[in-house]
Amino acid sequence: MSGRGRSPVCVGVEIAGSGSSLPARRVTNGDLVAMMDTSDEWIVQRTGIRERRIYDREKEGTADLAADAARKAIADAGLLPTDIDLVVVGTMTPDSPTPSVACVVADRIGAGKVGAFDVNGACCGFVFAINTAHDLINGGAYRNVVVAGADTITRFCDFSTAGRNVAVLFGDAAAAVVLRVSSDTSRGLLAQAMHSDGGGAKNLFVPGRKQDFPSNVEYDPKRINQIYMDGQAVFKFAVGTFSKLIEQTLERSGLKADEVDHYVCHQSNYRILDSARERFGLSPERLHVNIDRYGNTVGASVPLVFDELRKSGRVQPGQKVMFLAFGAGLTWGSSLWQL
Ligand code: ACO
Repeated sequence: MSGRGRSPVCVGVEIAGSGSSLPARRVTNGDLVAMMDTSDEWIVQRTGIRERRIYDREKEGTADLAADAARKAIADAGLLPTDIDLVVVGTMTPDSPTPSVACVVADRIGAGKVGAFDVNGACCGFVFAINTAHDLINGGAYRNVVVAGADTITRFCDFSTAGRNVAVLFGDAAAAVVLRVSSDTSRGLLAQAMHSDGGGAKNLFVPGRKQDFPSNVEYDPKRINQIYMDGQAVFKFAVGTFSKLIEQTLERSGLKADEVDHYVCHQSNYRILDSARERFGLSPERLHVNIDRYGNTVGASVPLVFDELRKSGRVQPGQKVMFLAFGAGLTWGSSLWQL
């Protein structure tokens, strides 16, 4: 039964399982050289990306990847699909405006007629979704919730020289976790933050109509439905925001930087992640990077890193993990967990 009545007592919340799903097509920087005027050296030096996965539009979509990741996460948690009472998907690339990706996922995995909705926070989609889902469990309304991040962003990229500053950055993927109610009330969110600045959208947006072009960007009909990005403006925003966000989240939790075991960060650019490492003196073990293999996978990026850490045994119960992301909107947010 979905949507239980509110419990008078707050409960603990644990991350009980995780899973991920990647398109089979692997596209290396060398493959991109055949499509546009670029080089492996330029891409690696500027971004750290060596390859990414690109979905097959004829055969799969965001919901297919999200459902696959959700199934794996549920199995990893030792649950059945019928145990799930809510599905939340962070995505900015649903296959169509309706149904939501979450509705399709709930049906595909066999969860029954449970609650399901998408959260559009661009690259923050998963972080915003997990904060929301945590509080729905913590308040007593739900018990076992699938939270996924899933995007097929490459359909908004131009893989010709005209779009090379954007297309080389992105890849497609989905990853999911299962949140489960726990009798241990020390488990769950220690602190969180969610922010936006719609005024900054002019530096990173996907125009659907002529009116969507801000005054600083010349209208070009060929750019409809393609990501526009002022890379340097976004870079500055990301570097500054990352540090402030970590500081704000630590302050809210009363923890010091070295008391957090893992910083699970949105993978947008190796140099952005490196600046956060330097600023807070974090070792590579505590700020894991996988952008070299997957590029920027938008909402899937954060849970993809988490799943990788979990599967390799590096994330363990009892540890503290901070999820961090920033993205189009502009948006930025964090989620600090006691596992
Ligand atoms: N290959 C070769 N040359 C290229 C490419 C390419 N793929 N793309 C651009 N160039 C050229 C440009 O044309 C320019 O040439 P010019 O000097 O002759 O004019 C030169 O390289 C430098 O271009 P810049 O855009 O100034 O390059 P920059 O050093 O800023 O690096 C980059 C670009 C990697 C995009 C960087 O700005 C960046 O990482 N920004 C942040 C991106 C980001 O994180 N975005 C996503 C976050 S939000 C989200 O995830 C939805």
